[in-house]
Amino acid sequence: MAFDRISIALSSGAFTLPSAGEIVLMRPTGPLPEVLTGTGRLCVVQSFRPAHDTYLGAGLRVVTEPPAKAAATLIEIGRSRALNRQMIRTAAAMTDPGGIIALDGAKTDGVEGNLKSLRLAGIAPETLPKAHGRAVWFANQPGLADDLPEGDIDPPEGFHTAPGVFSAEKIDAGSALLGDHLTSLRGDGADFGAGWGYLSQRVLEHESVRSLDLIEAEKRSLDCAARNIRDPRAHLIWADATAHQGGPYDFIVMNPPFHTSRRAEPALGQAFIRNAARCLTRKGALWMVSNRQLPYEETLSECFQRVERLAEQGGFKLFVARAPR
Ligand SMILES: C[S@@+](CC[C@H](N)C(=O)[O-])C[C@H]1O[C@@H](n2cnc3c(N)ncnc32)[C@H](O)[C@@H]1O
Repeated sequence: MAFDRISIALSSGAFTLPSAGEIVLMRPTGPLPEVLTGTGRLCVVQSFRPAHDTYLGAGLRVVTEPPAKAAATLIEIGRSRALNRQMIRTAAAMTDPGGIIALDGAKTDGVEGNLKSLRLAGIAPETLPKAHGRAVWFANQPGLADDLPEGDIDPPEGFHTAPGVFSAEKIDAGSALLGDHLTSLRGDGADFGAGWGYLSQRVLEHESVRSLDLIEAEKRSLDCAARNIRDPRAHLIWADATAHQGGPYDFIVMNPPFHTSRRAEPALGQAFIRNAARCLTRKGALWMVSNRQLPYEETLSECFQRVERLAEQGGFKLFVARAPR
């Protein structure tokens, strides 16, 4: 459930939501509690396509960018410190003066650090410690955004990235390794989980590639890819790669995600492999890198007639799988 701790604080009357105006929810994941949906005045900010579509399907107003104005803003603290900081500053800039801003996060995601930054900016938030984390809430003050830390990042040289996107500050070593091993790519291809476009750029170095679909679920990453890749053969597609119906492609490259939370979820990468097999031509090839310990071999053999291990290096393994079954 999203906003578990805030929901407890609201239900116990520790604080209340405004009786008018939009209540903005920043990057929630999972079902929303009745204490929020019951207001009928929610605006969900979610740029990760599967979660975005789930909230849309539940009849909520969903946007990919924060709105200009909010009566109250609730933030689900996530794994990226820079993105958390950016969301809190954005909330301070858009929430009405006196309007509630509330955070809900686990200690492992750094909610204590966010609380400290608020105190340093002169705010005395109320808090509810719960389940190895904390709900934090306070009334917004004019000018607060300027006193809060920025979500700064230092992108790899020559590239544009953003807080919270995969490998925002360095080229991923696994993607770089796969880029070095790609040979004889030709025709129409796709990059499943294209991120900010590093691997796609390596693919487009091959002149015999006719087109490349960049399939990525996180719109903020795709927006970075749009700035990094200025090649007319590239097409940006904001979609869930496990459900995308495209192609048929002559080749697909991928460095699949293996978690949406802190836990490894090999099922996600396996779903990427299965859909890649569906989207390839009969002679098509899947080029893939993964962390060495992830169990993808069985799924690859289930889905493809020929599977070749290209390399194993630096904690990664590379495969090319040909001829989907
Ligand atoms: C390991 S990163 C690889 C990024 C990029 N290809 C690179 O090499 O740097 C995996 C990417 O998959 C994206 N992703 C996660 N779940 C997805 C899904 N269901 N559909 C499409 N992309 C997804 C993530 O946002 C992330 O950008």
